[in-house]
Amino acid sequence: SSMDAEKEPVKVLVTGAAGQIGYALMPMIARGVMLGPDQPVIIHMLDIEQCAEALDGVKMELIDGAFPLLRGVVATTDVVEACRDVNIAVMLGGIPRKEGMERKDVMSRNVLIYKAQAAALEQHAAADCKVLVVANPANTNALILKEFAPSITDKNITCLTRLDHNRALGQIAEKLKVHVSDVKNIVVWGNHSSTQYPDADHASVATSSGERSVRDLIADDKWLNTEFITTIQQRGAAIIKARKLSSALSAASAVCDHIRDWVLGTPKGTWVSMGVCSDGSYGIQPGLIYSFPVTCQHGEWSIVQGLQIDEFSRAKMDSTANELIEEKSLAYSCLG
Ligand code: LMR
Repeated sequence: SSMDAEKEPVKVLVTGAAGQIGYALMPMIARGVMLGPDQPVIIHMLDIEQCAEALDGVKMELIDGAFPLLRGVVATTDVVEACRDVNIAVMLGGIPRKEGMERKDVMSRNVLIYKAQAAALEQHAAADCKVLVVANPANTNALILKEFAPSITDKNITCLTRLDHNRALGQIAEKLKVHVSDVKNIVVWGNHSSTQYPDADHASVATSSGERSVRDLIADDKWLNTEFITTIQQRGAAIIKARKLSSALSAASAVCDHIRDWVLGTPKGTWVSMGVCSDGSYGIQPGLIYSFPVTCQHGEWSIVQGLQIDEFSRAKMDSTANELIEEKSLAYSCLG
């Protein structure tokens, strides 16, 4: 009721805010899709000098949206002003990948950006700021951010694999001709790259006769073990090819899903995929930023334990871990 005390606004930083994902994301945040319909927000948008005018245009549009939950907009090219007291940081900023470029090509410039932003967040963000890295190479950018912002707890630095998770749910739903909301407990393991392992072994579908495992419903093991996996692994590249631009609306939507579930909790009986700091679970090298199945409660994620891993899965989980170990050493060599 109107007697209820209004919640304090949450300050959300978005870097690279004048880009495609930012443009799709801004109205979602302002409408409460990210933090809930009763949570006022203040949006801090950061971009580089060359984008300052475009950023001002986005600010004008946010004002013109007359969003009831939007309590303020900061549009700036000053990293200190952008980071000041933010509670959530969504890192879209980076050198984007173009058609035909490998993710490794974008590595060297991006790790320098993430090293610098680590320092800014550490010094100016709220002490318990939750960070989500989206810009590629997302896991390794998050790793660099973690290593150069030692005062931010590892628990608060994550990268986006929810987009891959949602893509996998979408492909299962299309295959089985069911509603996507009836499919759950896909796992995306590892790197947000073409080595990621989307795993349907633990996934289920809500049917009129109860929950059925995806493996039972899709008798075609070959599809699940080949085409399903490569479709998800290559989906980002397929969208770049089709749009001549990276995925944006699906990325923005996944960002909202990631933050919402992290802050407000995952529904009972359901997990989601997040790139988080490995604690050695499932034999993954501690300290790597690796996508795991997680549940969230009271603003904290925890890795789902005890899933049965067969030989096929083990090999795929290890190969994406190995790519991350390589990216890590490449990143450090870029830093000199
Ligand atoms: C995506 O998954 O859509 C992007 O990460 C694609 C890419 O690699 O730039």
